[in-house]
Amino acid sequence: MSLTVLRGEILSFMDDPDKSGEQGYVHFHDGILVVEGDKIKAVGPAEDLLSSVSADTVVLEYQNKLIMPGFIDTHIHYPQVDVLASYGEQLLEWLNNYTFPTERQFSDPQHARETADFFLDELIKAGTTTALVFGTVHPQSVEAFFEASELRNTRMICGKVMMDRHAPDFLCDTAEASYQDSKALIEQWHGRGRQLYAVTPRFAITSSDEQLQKAGQLLKEYPGVFMQTHLSENTDEVDFVQKLFPGACDYLDVYDQNGLLSGRSVFAHGIHLCEREHARLRETESSISFCPTSNLFLGSGLLDLAQLEKEQVTYSMGTDVGGGTSFSMLQTLNEAYKVAQMRQYKLSPLKAFYLATLGGARALKLDHLIGSLQPEREADFIVLDYAATPLIKRRLSKCKNLEERLFALMILGDDRSVAETWVAGQCLYQRSQND
Ligand code: GUN
Ligand code: ZN
Repeated sequence: MSLTVLRGEILSFMDDPDKSGEQGYVHFHDGILVVEGDKIKAVGPAEDLLSSVSADTVVLEYQNKLIMPGFIDTHIHYPQVDVLASYGEQLLEWLNNYTFPTERQFSDPQHARETADFFLDELIKAGTTTALVFGTVHPQSVEAFFEASELRNTRMICGKVMMDRHAPDFLCDTAEASYQDSKALIEQWHGRGRQLYAVTPRFAITSSDEQLQKAGQLLKEYPGVFMQTHLSENTDEVDFVQKLFPGACDYLDVYDQNGLLSGRSVFAHGIHLCEREHARLRETESSISFCPTSNLFLGSGLLDLAQLEKEQVTYSMGTDVGGGTSFSMLQTLNEAYKVAQMRQYKLSPLKAFYLATLGGARALKLDHLIGSLQPEREADFIVLDYAATPLIKRRLSKCKNLEERLFALMILGDDRSVAETWVAGQCLYQRSQND
């Protein structure tokens, strides 16, 4: 099998650095990463590993760069590439005025495929190697996405949106059709190569009780699949859900009553939750995807990270394109830091980069495969450039240690900071000066 050897500064997390301190990560100023086929073979300091590299092996040398695991985006909508930057509305109007009409176009498989290709190229350019992705109500949208992902060999999770009410007719399925279509997609795609499936009820407002039950039934029938939906993003949404489901004690309970909470369940946003909801998320090992650019852009609210920490609710990072405004996880961490500031919470740079890598892998229960640089893990990693722009180069030259560099990168950086993206041992993207 082919061997690739990279030499440069390396960072990878073993645990939450806020909990484990220096035990939470490995950092080599002069490190070696050995990739064999699609897996990592070895990682460590150059002085230990260089002697084990045979003399005829080419060593790729990286100066003023940082090699780290690829970013993991736990909430994003591929069909919303053309919804990005839509003016003036909050969630419910934004859905009706912009999002639903745009998603209608995904009944056309060619449009779906063209958009999926564009979307995946943007993600890879931004350094994101795994994402939990919404399709549209059309099963062909998910087919197109998985085909595009399979071609690139990216580890992606996607699902057909289930929605059977409170949306235009052209975007509604039925409980039974959504069950059958999801089932067929799971059979065809879940575990095929690197592709994984997520049962995807859009949110409580657009699903009947019967449809939510069907979603729960799918999770029972296929225990390895994921579940993704939206939760408690906007206060008008929360009020409407309470009216629609008088038998539920709160928003999360609507999903809970239908068996949708588990260690593989990711709830986007979760801004306006009560203590009971936090407790249920914790007990079921469900997680929240924090989407700060979206929460600010749609005026949804400021997620309280301190509260989640205190109540031990797992959370990770999502861009939520197209409610969110950037594919870049660096930009997303930038906004996350500011949201935390507004809530008197300090999001440390180490914690931020943990959330964007191993934290995401853990939320998805995929940390045995991705999210860190260790032997036997899948070789999905990126090379960040400490000198991507004159400003970043200048500011970083003043930094005294890793934490200061990471902080400046997450505040000033974006996709221009990603020099290379490697997926399953192959370099899929190399930034050129013209990008
Ligand atoms: N809630 C239901 N659907 C959506 C969506 O597409 N985006 C966001 N941000 N929230 C939602
Ligand atoms: Zn979303």
